[in-house]
Amino acid sequence: MSSNQPTAMKLADYQPCAFRITDIYLEFDLADQQTRVTATSQVERVQQSCRDLQLDGKNLTLIGVWVDGQETDVAVSEHGITLADVPDRFELKIVTDINPIDNHALEGLYKSGGAFCTQCEAQGFRRITYFLDRPDVMARYRVKLTADKKTCPYLLANGNLVDSGETTKGRHWAVWEDPFPKPCYLFALVAGDFDLLEDSFTTQSAKVVKLQLFVDKGNSERGHHALASLKKAMAWDEQKYGLEYDLDRYMIVAVDFFNMGAMENKGLNVFNSKYVLADAASATDQDYFNIESVIAHEYFHNWTGNRITCRDWFQLSLKEGLTVFRDQQFSADMASDAIVRINQVKVMREHQFAEDSGPMAHPIRPAEVVEMNNFYSVTVYDKGAEVIRMLHRILGEAGFRKGMDCYISRHDGQAVTCDDFVQAMADANHADLSLFRRWYSQSGTPVVGLTSHWDKAKKTLTLNMTQYTPPTADQPHKQSLHIPVGIEIIPLSGKGERISRVIPLTSGQHSVTIEGVQCESAIAALTGFSAPARLDYQASLEEQMAVVLYASDPVARWDASQKLVSDALFDMAKQAHEQTIPKYIDSLFAGLLRQALSEPALIAEMLELPSFETLSQQREQIDVDGLLQARGKLNAHLGAVFAQQWRSLYASLSNPGYAYEQGQVERRRLAGVTLGYIAAVKDDDTAQMLQSIYQHSDNMTDSLAVLKACQTQNLPLFDTLMQDFENKWQDDPLVMDKWFSLHAGRQHEACLSTLQLLLCHGRYNVNNPNRVRSVMGTFAFYNTAGFHRRDGSGYRFLTDYLLELDGVNSQVAARLITPMLQYAKLDEDRQQKIRLQLLRLFEHKNLSRDLYEKVQKAL
Ligand code: TRP
Ligand code: ZN
Repeated sequence: MSSNQPTAMKLADYQPCAFRITDIYLEFDLADQQTRVTATSQVERVQQSCRDLQLDGKNLTLIGVWVDGQETDVAVSEHGITLADVPDRFELKIVTDINPIDNHALEGLYKSGGAFCTQCEAQGFRRITYFLDRPDVMARYRVKLTADKKTCPYLLANGNLVDSGETTKGRHWAVWEDPFPKPCYLFALVAGDFDLLEDSFTTQSAKVVKLQLFVDKGNSERGHHALASLKKAMAWDEQKYGLEYDLDRYMIVAVDFFNMGAMENKGLNVFNSKYVLADAASATDQDYFNIESVIAHEYFHNWTGNRITCRDWFQLSLKEGLTVFRDQQFSADMASDAIVRINQVKVMREHQFAEDSGPMAHPIRPAEVVEMNNFYSVTVYDKGAEVIRMLHRILGEAGFRKGMDCYISRHDGQAVTCDDFVQAMADANHADLSLFRRWYSQSGTPVVGLTSHWDKAKKTLTLNMTQYTPPTADQPHKQSLHIPVGIEIIPLSGKGERISRVIPLTSGQHSVTIEGVQCESAIAALTGFSAPARLDYQASLEEQMAVVLYASDPVARWDASQKLVSDALFDMAKQAHEQTIPKYIDSLFAGLLRQALSEPALIAEMLELPSFETLSQQREQIDVDGLLQARGKLNAHLGAVFAQQWRSLYASLSNPGYAYEQGQVERRRLAGVTLGYIAAVKDDDTAQMLQSIYQHSDNMTDSLAVLKACQTQNLPLFDTLMQDFENKWQDDPLVMDKWFSLHAGRQHEACLSTLQLLLCHGRYNVNNPNRVRSVMGTFAFYNTAGFHRRDGSGYRFLTDYLLELDGVNSQVAARLITPMLQYAKLDEDRQQKIRLQLLRLFEHKNLSRDLYEKVQKAL
């Protein structure tokens, strides 16, 4: 690490900005190596005591600065410029040069393929011009783009097109104006050549909005699902929240080089092409689902994020937690409530619980930040959404809507805080949410303890609940939280009434007695994952089986079956030599198989073995080898014992021609899980069956299920099919990401040599984040056996790569390091090997702030 170590910013140090910028006129003369940016801003002093104007800037070549037309000297540093003793009100003109073609960090202005595009959130605008790069500075933007007409026929920016024309030398220009004041992180421009798909949407107040989707040439057929999703999202937000679109035009541009999923720039979203392009042959059902959800997410930001934005970046969850909650509600309405919910719970348990128990633990509103990009986290996004969901549960559907209405009307056009949001919710409902606010400032995963007693004579069930939040890396002491505990009481026999309640647990301990419990019952707690917490409840096997079979909450059924399987796996892992499989497993699976066709998607989730990551989150100490062996053994056992059932189930799950339609999606999902068990019986017959399915498949979901099954079981067929797949798809970047990922995730002895080959593959490109994630991300997150190799070579491999990637794109590097941060659960030997690699990173001379913050915390 270099001598000047990065320092943390603190929420407690927030100060309002001493200056205001009300209007800005930005002129771009676009060229690959040297783009000239002229920024003319109207600046006003807000605080008399502050004489100097400090502006943020990064990687800029300063050409000149003018104050009211007078060229001015400024002090230039690595982080920006300072103008001494400026007037109270003046016009500031700044000319800078920037280099888009060599910008591989993909922040600020860069080139993706042949197109210029920008990414300004969180602090990328400072790579475009010197500015007050903070979200509470909101200005009106007028933008002029000039570029080569042939390579850039489309010139786009936020808002409305107000003028355009041609200049000499084959160049042309366009001027855009956005009437809504906005923070600079929502600024965007795009210039390039695309195929354009157009449509329109008529709002509830009869305004006609032009919808435009820009995709790489030749891809327009793959854009229809995204456009249809956008229209659904627009209609849904009107119907659910009364929120209407506010500009005449909504543009989405798909690019191949993008650090994240997508970006909600006002009126001009920029998307990772992965979340736009789909057709049956190249995209899976999961891809279709993700596209619909990300398109909706960015659209919903127009109100929750853009019209009402964040005061400072510590408030990120204000817009992200709320918008994720809204997109989850939308997805649940579009598809299946239960399945959508189960997948969210998986994300929380696999990734968010892990973050909370590791060195990067932080509350959904962090108090301290070194590199903002590190806080676009599962905690801020997904736990943030869970916190909103708890509010929704506490206030009810109507109360939540009242709160939203109050929030929107009170704060439209402002940059506000999470407290402002909770206050609006409280005021609109006359509710006391003071205790609830702790969810914003406290990190960690609470443990809800439960014991119960049924009084046979009185027919009452007494529930004794406790809560306890273990200390986290960032906070040693924890307070009690307001935890809504969903409870379902289920007669053990399955016959009789089921009782559902939400019990608020607001202190360390709480008991309730429920009347009218007629018979001995099973209890499901934290039903529907009613709070982002763990449950500590010792239920008997009989009780757990009753929940699996009879609970009315599908999430509780799934949860109970996963718990039974997890316990079996841990039990097996503990046994030194011959692992034996608990008896109840066979009857559990026999029962599930019998129900499979009535609820295919739910049963698919229940039949699937819990992931290694989910398992890790359930124990303090993890025996990697024991658990992997147990998982493999259980998979093989179930494949063999139910061989006939899997085959006949698979046979009954066929679909007519592919459509992305709920019934089909559910059947394909179950078929995929089923195939995983069929492939566990490794004989010629199986190989033939898999090959035939692959050959006759008319869609990517089924094809990929075959490849995945072959990969997991390490079948020789894998290589044959992968060769075929590569020949077919080599020119398609999104599909090739799947190919790379399948190779990188294969858990076999030679996996490091495989990785080496992939990195040297002609289609590998360290500058493309999707490609990097498909190889190194898959390896580090999901190739458990390879990454955790005993000799530490997996950790070394990742570290070598991070050292290279960090110089190219530190944002992506900092995401890939995640699996190496959570080493505390591993055996001492592996822990030491990881620490060794973290030390190597720490001692590296030019480590980025992104990696520095994480490595330093982990050590
Ligand atoms: N606001 C974006 C979202 O919808 C997140 C995002 C996109 C982002 N690109 C980014 C965040 C680059 C940081 C850096 O969730
Ligand atoms: Zn978002």
